[in-house]
Amino acid sequence: MLNCELGMGKTFDIGLERLTGGSGFSIGTSLSTENVGVEASAGELGTLRGASRGTFFLETFGCQMNDHDSEKVAGVLLSRGYRQVESPESASLILYNTCSIREKAAQKVFSRLGEFRVKQNEGRIIGVLGCVAQQEGEGIFARAPWVSLVCGSASYSKLPELLAQVEAGNQRVTGLDNDTDETFETEMTRRDNPWRAYLTIIEGCDKACSYCVVPYTRGPERSRASDSILREVRQLAELGYSEVQLLGQTVNSYKDPTARKMRFSELLLAVADEPGIRRVRFTTSHPSEFTQDIVNAIDAQPKLCNHVHMPVQSGSTKVLRAMQRTYTREEYLVRIAMIRGAKRAISITTDIIVGFPGETDEDLAETLGLLDAVQYDGVFAFKYSPRPHTPSLAMSDAVPEEEKSRRLALLQEKQREIQSKKNSSMAGETFEVLVSGKSRRENQWSGHTSCHRVINFASQEAALLGKYVQVRVTGATANGLAGERAE
Ligand code: 5AD
Ligand code: SF4
Repeated sequence: MLNCELGMGKTFDIGLERLTGGSGFSIGTSLSTENVGVEASAGELGTLRGASRGTFFLETFGCQMNDHDSEKVAGVLLSRGYRQVESPESASLILYNTCSIREKAAQKVFSRLGEFRVKQNEGRIIGVLGCVAQQEGEGIFARAPWVSLVCGSASYSKLPELLAQVEAGNQRVTGLDNDTDETFETEMTRRDNPWRAYLTIIEGCDKACSYCVVPYTRGPERSRASDSILREVRQLAELGYSEVQLLGQTVNSYKDPTARKMRFSELLLAVADEPGIRRVRFTTSHPSEFTQDIVNAIDAQPKLCNHVHMPVQSGSTKVLRAMQRTYTREEYLVRIAMIRGAKRAISITTDIIVGFPGETDEDLAETLGLLDAVQYDGVFAFKYSPRPHTPSLAMSDAVPEEEKSRRLALLQEKQREIQSKKNSSMAGETFEVLVSGKSRRENQWSGHTSCHRVINFASQEAALLGKYVQVRVTGATANGLAGERAE
């Protein structure tokens, strides 16, 4: 698996691949230029504040939830007559959809905002959306007075009204209520990828991991009605999307608010049943709610992808307790055994935090031992980053920064060896691949297997994007596979 935080770098020379680093397992593609719009003309730049509608530039930081939120924000803006452009210079409205899961991500936004302090003087509207908006609130106006809109993810449904206020000349508009029953559904979503569609089925998080800012920035857990989800899946299939990825911070905590009371596993099967859908993914799974019926569903329905992303965070029960995770090392391993017991081999990926306050060398050794025991297909590893509003902020025994780096490097090295071996053992196997990228180099394509590995392969064919093809693995590295067409 690929992860920029893991330091494994970008494996594939595929110009169109984009790593959406940050929270979790996120390899996105940004392939569709048709519906992204083109640069604004000089004339359109005249439609700035006070004029009817203009152009917008939207940059996204962080996880797939944020990527998908941005697709919804773009949909709202397009339906209001805005046009999307690819550079802030061409835009009358500049929006940053932000991530605050670790300090580095949050800082990135302020440095980006710094670059645009002059833009406001040119009549441009600058807005901060997402987790940093929710976390910093009106404080953003103090740090960057040229920002006129601050809006957290739970308030996106109010975005049209908020924008109307900004357009009317209000310099300080906020949408920061995160205690809402609303799950963000919009009439129109402008999706980045023409084959794979994200779908949020559960918003917010009711867990209380002591290091995590998400319950604060995204609010309490709210599940979306199953009939609304299935309606959207049907529409997506009709539009030609063949892969859907169900999203949620704890996707398997899904609780259908309708009288149908569909279980998460039943929802997975119902989504897979929609004609036209060939693959269903879901992320992120919480270990405490990972139940046998989910494994049974994957076994029963080949359209459910054989990949589970289930963060462990630490291999030490002592650290897990301090993290307020709701399981022990042993309980986690029971879940792993359940998944490994499936009829179909299921890839397992995870998130790990090193350098949590109080983590000792012995605790780290337990985490390294867990990697040996589980043999993960991919690991997203992070150095602990103290976040505002979190209980762990007040904990003593902080691990020094260099020591965190040392531990991260140890973990990455071990995982690199594991992945090299695992990937090499796949040589000769044939996989169905959804082709989603074409390299700058001639005849080189890339795509994902059901188990979410990226394979690069050569083919003389002219038009493979969006197609499902059989690819035989001919080579492997720690980060991915190379292959050739098997038909
Ligand atoms: N510091 C470092 N990593 C964090 N994560 C969440 N909060 C923090 C933090 N304060 C990681 C967890 C989570 C992933 C999305 O980000 O591993 O699963
Ligand atoms: Fe954060 Fe824990 Fe919720 Fe995941 S489960 S979003 S780590 S609080």
